[in-house]
Amino acid sequence: MKILVVCLGNICRSPAAEVILREKAKGVDLEAHIESCGIGDWHVGQRAHHRMIEAAGRRGLQLDGRAKQFKTSYFEEFDLILAADQSVFDHLISQAPDKKAKEKVRLYTHFSSSHQGKDVPDPYFGGEEMFDEVLDMLDEVLGELALLLKQQN
Ligand code: 4NP
Repeated sequence: MKILVVCLGNICRSPAAEVILREKAKGVDLEAHIESCGIGDWHVGQRAHHRMIEAAGRRGLQLDGRAKQFKTSYFEEFDLILAADQSVFDHLISQAPDKKAKEKVRLYTHFSSSHQGKDVPDPYFGGEEMFDEVLDMLDEVLGELALLLKQQN
């Protein structure tokens, strides 16, 4: 299955989510193609934010992708489109061409028992500790997601 993780700038939350979800999928033997993007174009072509690269690196995660922007053809290309928070979710829904596309959009936390329905907070304007909090949350939420998708497949 093809999964797209989306945030605002594609330099903090979704690049980390992409790598973590890939690792979690591997851990439960789920075959998945995972990509990330942002809804904004400010950072297109850039590497992830250095504070996220460093925080992820301390956990042995390597973020080496380049930011890209969401495009509507992704509604066709991906089976599941995950939004980091409600504003990203609302934006994606507003871009969706039809009901089938809308049904592909969920929050990262939609399937989570620990954080169900919550936003993954944006660490961009936050302190150092926020990057670790986001990584903890992603670890938990995406671990639950990978397991659930494996059970459904
Ligand atoms: P992200 O964080 O959505 O987790 O990548 C942000 C990155 C950049 C901006 C906002 C949020 N920005 O305003 O440039």
